[in-house]
Order: sequence, then structure tokens, then C-alpha cells
Amino acid sequence: MAEDKAKIQEETRKILVKWKTKRGALIMALHEIQGAFGYVPWDAMEVVAEEMKIPMAQIYSVLTFYNHFKLKAPGKVVISICDGTACHIKGGQSVIEAFEKELGVKAGVTTDDGLFYIQIVRCLGCCGLAPVVVVNGKTYGRVTPLDAPKIVKEWRDEMAKKGE
Ligand code: FES
Repeated sequence: MAEDKAKIQEETRKILVKWKTKRGALIMALHEIQGAFGYVPWDAMEVVAEEMKIPMAQIYSVLTFYNHFKLKAPGKVVISICDGTACHIKGGQSVIEAFEKELGVKAGVTTDDGLFYIQIVRCLGCCGLAPVVVVNGKTYGRVTPLDAPKIVKEWRDEMAKKGE
């Protein structure tokens, strides 16, 4: 969808601000993009190619070489929950558990309706907002376990609006 493409590309540009001038930063940049979206979307790859002046073929070969990278979304809504040091200290684990309870699945498993997927990531680069959760590129800071049902509802409603 055009609107999603614009959002993905805008978010990718923000992520790349700190990486594009660093040599050899491609893998780190792709890692952070996957942290934000749950996979590396084609639309994000286009921005990486343009901003980092790296041919698409080279980006694609890096993504397929490391089996850690996903090229397809594991669910329509990917909830990335940070368990890096800062987020862990501020209660990241209880946030993970709250989302797992709310959705009835463990991290790494897509819900039966194909809608939600939780992934645990290491540092999303905004530790000042710990604990941090990113849903399809949208950042939530200082998340508590009580926020989990609200965030899930917000995205259920969003998907219902789109007819998903
Ligand atoms: S440790 Fe969570 S954003 Fe850095």
C-alpha cells in the first residue's frame, strides 16, 4: 500500500541518519531496520541503496547470506520489544510477558489469525525511552505491562479499518 511504503521509507530514513556516513555499517543498519519492522521490507532496501549508495544486489546478497534476516513480514503487525540492557533494567521482561499474555502466543510465534508477531530485540537505539516497544515502525516509550492491551487494541482497530 502506498501509505505503508511512505511510512516505511520515512522511518528507514530516520534510522539511517546515524549509519549512512559510517563505513561498513550496512549490517548494523539492516539489523536496526529489522528491529523496527520485524523484517527488512523491500521499500526499506530501496532507501538503504539510495542513502548509503550501495547497489540493491549487494544489499540483497547480505540479507540472504545471513539467515538471521527476514525478507517477509512474519505477521501483519510486528511488535518488537526491546530487551537490551537499559530496557531490561527498566522492566522490559514484564512488558514482554504482558504482550505474550495479551496475544496468547510466545515471542517468535505468529498468532493464529496471522495478525500479530512478537519479536524480542536488543537495543532499538532510543534507550532514553526505556522500556521501548516498536510496532510496525511506530515507537512507544516508557511502556508498562498495563499498556500492552491498549497497544494491541490500537493495532487491532487499525487493521480492522484496513479490512485485514
Ligand atoms: S536498550 Fe532498549 S532501546 Fe536501548
